[in-house]
Amino acid sequence: MEIKKVNGVKKYLNKKGGIRMITTRMMSIDDYKSVYELWVSIPGMGLNDIDDSFDGIKRYLERNPDTSFVAEDDGKIVGAILAGHDGRRGFIYHAAVLHQYRNRGIGKKLVDLALNALKQKGISKVGLLVFSKNEIGNTFWEKMGFYEKEACIYRDKKLREMHYRPNPYLEKE
Ligand SMILES: CC(C)(COP(=O)(O)OP(=O)(O)OC[C@H]1O[C@@H](n2cnc3c(N)ncnc32)[C@H](O)[C@@H]1OP(=O)(O)O)[C@@H](O)C(=O)NCCC(=O)NCCS
Repeated sequence: MEIKKVNGVKKYLNKKGGIRMITTRMMSIDDYKSVYELWVSIPGMGLNDIDDSFDGIKRYLERNPDTSFVAEDDGKIVGAILAGHDGRRGFIYHAAVLHQYRNRGIGKKLVDLALNALKQKGISKVGLLVFSKNEIGNTFWEKMGFYEKEACIYRDKKLREMHYRPNPYLEKE
């Protein structure tokens, strides 16, 4: 894909040399196949066979119908963010942008959309988990104003067996 800098900002060009527009919209369950393909294409996405199945994402979007978003290039999903709340805290999962579309503000745009949607619902604080070895992810979230909570340890307990996709951030050195 041809790239040109316009006023210092990277723009992607279409076949005729015009600037390609990346559009954003709310995620719906009809996007599941494309969004899941995006997630599995990215090494290090923490995906499991229950929460990230079609039924798991359907359930999530039914509870949180208007706070998750996708970015599209001419109908092709190139970025996505899953966000929702439990009535108290907002939470973000699986923010992702296709490799060849990174570093041009798509991730930030998706985060802004999710945060605005959560704020409109009266949510005052939003959390997320990022693997400690994910340097790009941690740099990105730091830039987005999500700071490490040093005094806390994240704990969880599984209520049923789940299977995770292999994850380079969890491999022992
Ligand atoms: C993290 C991710 C979503 C960022 O998407 P993106 O579209 O490239 O991000 P943006 O272009 O909107 O960048 C936003 C800011 O983060 C910074 N940033 C993004 N990637 C960066 C990198 N590799 N190194 C340094 N800074 C980076 C940008 O410089 C920008 O800062 P600025 O506003 O000061 O210029 C993308 O890299 C990705 O999909 N990574 C794999 C999945 C992942 O790790 N997700 C996060 C953990 S859940």
